[in-house]
This record gives sequence, structure tokens and C-alpha cells, in this order.
Amino acid sequence: MADAGWSAESRYLVTGGAGFIGSNFVKRVLSDYPAARVVVLDKLTYAGNPDNLLGLESDSRYSFIQGDVCDARAVDAAMEGCDVCVNFAAETHVDRSLGDPSSFVLTDVYGTHVLLEAARKVSLRKFVQISTDEVYGEILGAPATEDAPLVPTNPYSASKAGGDRLAFSYYASFKVPVVVTRCSNNYGPNQYPEKLFPLFITNALEGKKLPVYGSGRNTRDWIHVDDHCSALLALIAKDGVEGGVFNIGAGNELSVLEIAERILKLLGQSADLLEHVKDRPSHDRRYALDSARIKRTVGWVPRVPFEDGIAATVRWYVENTWWWEKIKSGETYRDYYERMYESR
Ligand code: NAD
Ligand code: TYD
Repeated sequence: MADAGWSAESRYLVTGGAGFIGSNFVKRVLSDYPAARVVVLDKLTYAGNPDNLLGLESDSRYSFIQGDVCDARAVDAAMEGCDVCVNFAAETHVDRSLGDPSSFVLTDVYGTHVLLEAARKVSLRKFVQISTDEVYGEILGAPATEDAPLVPTNPYSASKAGGDRLAFSYYASFKVPVVVTRCSNNYGPNQYPEKLFPLFITNALEGKKLPVYGSGRNTRDWIHVDDHCSALLALIAKDGVEGGVFNIGAGNELSVLEIAERILKLLGQSADLLEHVKDRPSHDRRYALDSARIKRTVGWVPRVPFEDGIAATVRWYVENTWWWEKIKSGETYRDYYERMYESR
């Protein structure tokens, strides 16, 4: 690991730290940096899960606040004394954003604004705005560089683009030390089973169909969550990157069908479980990132080979049925699944 300097001894505010990537990031900070402290601020929506942070309660370097990033008082209190804020908090699922965009605008745009206002009042060393490659819209030609136009095509990606540009504006206008990251699709442990990887793995384990939207030929640029966390730690540790935008991608471009086939093979299941269903409206056909800037600036490279990452991820869901069965057997999830898939 590169010399982490001041960032190894910092106090981190991690919003959305009970979600998939946030919880992996929290655990990573605490294990890599013995002198760091972490405050998680999380509303605990359907996607926020205390089980993702299990075992940390006894760690005196860690504290948890249940609160909303749209609540200025809660945000001011949580940010006090922090050196770094990493904003993962968001509504994150494209399909849900097509049915109910308002919570996306609220959390992903207004919540970011509340955090940035709080950041103006304290002396942070870094404010990392976790954006997404989806702000570019579908990329059919060369992989997108950070200078590509933002053409988001659904309320999730449009809200994320709003938060992304708002964060940059607080750097330009008020010198808040903002760094914007645009990562590609993550996979790994503790991902809520509405997203492709955990949905397909757990459905296959339950002997249920794997619902492939449309042709299944849509591709994403898959990255293991550990590689994403390493990239974030490297950017936080690096001085002079404030005001910058950084793509984070691992170059593993695979279609939904290719992912499904690998999962079924790893589980020894038959391709009969594949079921083509009605496509998602405005379904972006492809995301692909050019990540030369982050590699050049901080020397980050992805380290998890895709075939190892997918095998380890499938194994994690096989070994942690308690984690996802608890979610999938709950009313919230069952209602969602019925609404989204039963008559698709
Ligand atoms: P997730 O849905 O698993 O977790 C989101 C977390 O935010 C949950 O813990 C939830 O409770 C919390 N949250 C939601 N609204 C909140 C609010 N108003 N106040 C406080 N907390 C709130 O999401 P994820 O996949 O871990 O994504 C984390 C971030 O990374 C998001 O900003 C997302 O846009 C971005 N991102 C995700 C991916 C991906 O592939 N998952 C890729 C690129 C970027
Ligand atoms: P998803 O995990 O929702 O991420 P995003 O849309 O933000 O990239 O979906 C990844 C890909 O998988 C996308 O092309 C849609 C497809 N998909 C399916 O085919 N079936 C499903 O049930 C889901 C959830 C996704």
C-alpha cells in the first residue's frame, strides 16, 4: 500500500456506511488504518443493513448514527471533528428510480447539498462524492474519459449527475476539497439482492428463475468492491487532487448473459434457469470507462482478476445464506419482488 500519511490517522464520516460499498469501505478503513476513526451516518433504508457492520460495535474507533443526509442538524453533528467525508448515501437502484424518482432526487441531490453546506462550515481535508459511470449514459464507442458529456437516461443516473456536479461546484465556488469518483458496476459481498449479481446468485441457490431483461446482451464494466475501496483510499491519501473527477473501472466488460452463465456454471446449475423477461425502459446498452487518469495520478490498478472475484463472490453468498435469506424472506423484499417480476 502507498504511504497513506495523514489519511491513516483521520476521522472519517462515511454516509451510507450500512449499504453495500459503504460497509465494505468502513471495514477496510478500520482494518488498514489502526489509528483511524469512523463515524457512519445512515438512514437505514431498505438497503441499509446493520448486519453489514456486524462485529464493529465493540470497536472504540467506530460509531454509528442513524440519520438522514437531508437533515442538516444530523449532518452538522456527524461531521463535527471529521477530516474526511465519503458520501456513499444514495438511493441506488435504477429499476426503483423508474417507479419512484422523488426519493432519488431528495437523497442523491438535496442530501448531497446538505452535506456540502455542512462541509463549508468545517475544515475537511477531503470530501469524496461517490458518483457513478452511469452519469455518462450509454457508451457505445470508446470508453468514456472524465471529459465525456454527461447524458444520464434514468432518474437514478440523472440524480447522481446532479450530486456530482453540485459537489464540483462547491469546490469551484467555495473551495470545499471535493473529489468526484465515477466507478463502474461493483460486485462482492453484502450487496442487496435486487442488483444483478446477488439476485442471480441467490435465485439460482433457491432454484428460481434468473430474470434476464430483454436480450441480456447489455454490458457493464464490472469491478470488485475491494478494488473500488483501494482506489478511494489512494485518492483520499493523495494531496492535490481536489477539484478532480476520477473514473474507476477494471475493464471487465461482460454482458448480463455472460455473468449469468458464469454464475450457473460455478453453482453447477442448468441454463434452463435463465428466463428472458420484459426489458427495462431506457436500458443503457453499455457502460465502459477509461481509467487512465486515476492510474496516472495515484498509481492505482485493479488487483482482483474477474474470474477469481466472481468465484469468491459466489462462494460468499453460498456461505452466508443467513445474510440474504433474512432479507429475501422479509415482507419488504417479497413485495418488491412481486411488484417488479411477477407480471413482467
Ligand atoms: P446501497 O443501496 O447498497 O446503499 C446505500 C446506503 O445509503 C444504504 O445503507 C442506505 O440506508 C443509505 N441511505 C439511503 N438514503 C439515505 C439518506 N437519505 N440518508 C442517509 N443514508 C441513506 O448502495 P451501494 O451500491 O453501496 O452504493 C453506494 C454509493 O456508490 C452510491 O452513491 C451509488 O450511487 C454509488 N455507486 C454504486 C455502484 C454499484 O455498482 N453499486 C457503482 C458506482 C457508484
Ligand atoms: P443492475 O445490477 O440493476 O445495475 P445497473 O442497471 O445500475 O447497471 O443491473 C445490471 C445489468 O443487469 C443491467 O443491464 C440490467 C440487468 N439486469 C437484468 O437483466 N435482470 C435483473 O433482474 C436485474 C436486477 C438486472
